[in-house]
Amino acid sequence: MLSSAFRLILLSLSLTSTLAQSDFDWQTLTADTKLNWTSCYSSFQCSLLQVPLDYSAPQSESASIAIVRLPSTAPESEYLGPILFNPGGPGGSGVDAIVQAGGRRYVPAQTLNDSRSYEYYSGGVSYSTPTISFFKTEAERRFLIPSPEIVIYPSLNASSNAVSKTWGDFGLLGQLALQNDAEHHLQHMSTDNIARDMLQITEAFGFEKLQYWGVSYGSVLGATFATLFPEKVGRLMIDGVEDMDSYYTANATNMMVDVNGSLQAFFDGCNKAGPDNCPFYAPSSSQIAAKLDALTSSVKEQPIPVVTPDSHGIVDFTFLRNVIFGSLFAPYDSAVGFVPLAQALAALADGNATVLYDLIPVPTFECQTSPPPFHLNDFESYTAIACGDPISINDTVAQLEEYYLNAAKVSQFSDLVSSSRVLCAGYKIHRPDRFTGPVGAKNTSNPLLLVGNTLDPATARAGAVKTSEAFPGSVVLTQDSVGHTSLVAPSLCSYGYFRAYFVNGTLPAPGTVCPVDTELFPSASGNVTSKRRLPSVEKRLLDAGREISSVMRRVVPRWVL
Ligand SMILES: *[C@@H]1O[C@H](CO)[C@@H](O)[C@H](O)[C@H]1NC(C)=O
Ligand SMILES: *[C@@H]1O[C@H](CO)[C@@H](O)[C@H](O)[C@H]1NC(C)=O
Ligand SMILES: *[C@@H]1O[C@H](CO)[C@@H](O)[C@H](O)[C@H]1NC(C)=O
Ligand SMILES: *[C@@H]1O[C@H](CO)[C@@H](O)[C@H](O)[C@H]1NC(C)=O
Ligand SMILES: *[C@@H]1O[C@H](CO)[C@@H](O)[C@H](O)[C@H]1NC(C)=O
Ligand SMILES: *[C@@H]1O[C@H](CO)[C@@H](O)[C@H](O)[C@H]1NC(C)=O
Ligand SMILES: *[C@@H]1O[C@H](CO)[C@@H](O)[C@H](O)[C@H]1NC(C)=O
Ligand SMILES: *[C@@H]1O[C@H](CO)[C@@H](O)[C@H](O)[C@H]1NC(C)=O
Ligand SMILES: *[C@@H]1O[C@H](CO)[C@@H](O)[C@H](O)[C@H]1NC(C)=O
Ligand SMILES: *[C@@H]1O[C@H](CO)[C@@H](O)[C@H](O)[C@H]1NC(C)=O
Repeated sequence: MLSSAFRLILLSLSLTSTLAQSDFDWQTLTADTKLNWTSCYSSFQCSLLQVPLDYSAPQSESASIAIVRLPSTAPESEYLGPILFNPGGPGGSGVDAIVQAGGRRYVPAQTLNDSRSYEYYSGGVSYSTPTISFFKTEAERRFLIPSPEIVIYPSLNASSNAVSKTWGDFGLLGQLALQNDAEHHLQHMSTDNIARDMLQITEAFGFEKLQYWGVSYGSVLGATFATLFPEKVGRLMIDGVEDMDSYYTANATNMMVDVNGSLQAFFDGCNKAGPDNCPFYAPSSSQIAAKLDALTSSVKEQPIPVVTPDSHGIVDFTFLRNVIFGSLFAPYDSAVGFVPLAQALAALADGNATVLYDLIPVPTFECQTSPPPFHLNDFESYTAIACGDPISINDTVAQLEEYYLNAAKVSQFSDLVSSSRVLCAGYKIHRPDRFTGPVGAKNTSNPLLLVGNTLDPATARAGAVKTSEAFPGSVVLTQDSVGHTSLVAPSLCSYGYFRAYFVNGTLPAPGTVCPVDTELFPSASGNVTSKRRLPSVEKRLLDAGREISSVMRRVVPRWVL
């Protein structure tokens, strides 16, 4: 979600050992306060921008931000400037989001149907310096935290002592972060500083005002920017908008209020689709829900070991819950969405756990001594930002248990999401003068556009409505879809409003709702887009939209506070 500007930390580590491997060697670049572009990743250009590490002492140490851009090919007169893109997380690599999407179709350029008059760019935590690390060696990292390719939340309902165990595990990570931060760099990895970086990047491009597109955590970054620099807002679109008070108090409860509804959409959609299109079908939604409950209880009691040619692991309660929750995030996705979920659950009910196991790619454990290719620091940068930003949480195990059970009253997946507060309770690095909210500005130089899905399991639409109230003149565009952020489903209607906003500053009328051009359970014999004859440009946009959904699923970490 980040075009951002990810800050890099830990100058003390050598670049050689900490920069992620990639097709482009970032170490060949020298950081500069001016943008100096070098070709990279075939059609892109890369640059390392030097910014202050500590904005209260700009002359002391510096940080460098890895920035990748897709240059504009428009003549000067039509050039509309750079758009920063932030893929969320926090901690997601903006570079990977852009480059992976760009190898196919670059996210914002395609949905705006305009790769000429804008430049799109994004920074990456993974490739910036100083890099962050809570560990002394790669082996230690691999031993203590899951491989960065696997996103599995611990379930606080996995056993009767799960909160206590998770508290111990995360408390240890927090203590290691402290021990490995002798130079006190981690405190500077904060959303307010990333917002300051974004202003520096904008100015380095020769522009005064920010043009920005942020999704998920990128909404916190965008709203924080608009609060700190209301007069520097050019275009600011935030999508999958968090409840900002929830973010800054590490209390995700309010953001989870559409989780039940998202799961219900699976039950209802499956029932409506019928047995031919939904293999987990039952004659009523509540019977499907009951089948799922029975399956979950059975796996909790008796987990299933799975060995495949490439991998091995255990389909247990936590794994199953993560697969289902992951599907709610990307329900239209052809690899993990509702259709593959229904297939996997049906197979599991028949005693075959392999299909479900394959929905989360779990590489066989290897005690690597060099960093994995992508998202080197996902977990650590997530923790440093998402737990470093909020007020410090000193909850005891008993208080966390109470927090989780209270959130369970609004969300069936509180057991997974509440673990993020447990993580924060163990993290003790906070810069005293950081921004902790509230967000809002009486007057921004241009109005904000906010986007919310009708049923977003991670960032309920209520967050967009509440944030909009803090920025008079802003408008909430609703996309009628399930899933996390508008990018989960192609919508020509949404893309049209995005374009009108970026190009002309035009906002949709309040109350506008956009349909999506796809279905949760497409019938085996038909497809939505074919029902209408579309001009080729729109076909291309829809194809791009589908690819974007799958790219976003891969590059955007699922952790959201
Ligand atoms: C720009 O970067 C290239 C490659 O890192 C370097 O050789 C060159 O000196 C830089 N130019 C300026 C003006 O800094
Ligand atoms: C996309 O851009 C092309 C070229 O500028 C334009 O002809 C077309 O109408 C645009 N498509 C949409 C859906 O706006
Ligand atoms: C978290 O937020 C929910 C909903 O606003 C509230 O009921 C609960 O008391 C909060 N928990 C804590 C620990 O602040
Ligand atoms: C914990 O899981 C059990 C199923 O094993 C379920 O019945 C119970 O409602 C869950 N508790 C919470 C708080 O979600
Ligand atoms: C499970 O199902 C998959 C996909 O249908 C199949 O390839 C595999 O052989 C099955 N495994 C077992 C143990 O039946
Ligand atoms: C947690 O403890 C720290 C250090 O004692 C303190 O500064 C902070 O205010 C406490 N946080 C809360 C929410 O009480
Ligand atoms: C969500 O589902 C849980 C578990 O079924 C239930 O306890 C809770 O009341 C539901 N919450 C809402 C807001 O529907
Ligand atoms: C809001 O900001 C705009 C642009 O900076 C300015 O033209 C306008 O007068 C301001 N409105 C108020 C009420 O301050
Ligand atoms: C921007 O406004 C102009 C003039 O009203 C209009 O012709 C054009 O279609 C608009 N562009 C977009 C992308 O809405
Ligand atoms: C979609 O529907 C159209 C017309 O109904 C048909 O020609 C086309 O083959 C279908 N495509 C797929 C992938 O099913």
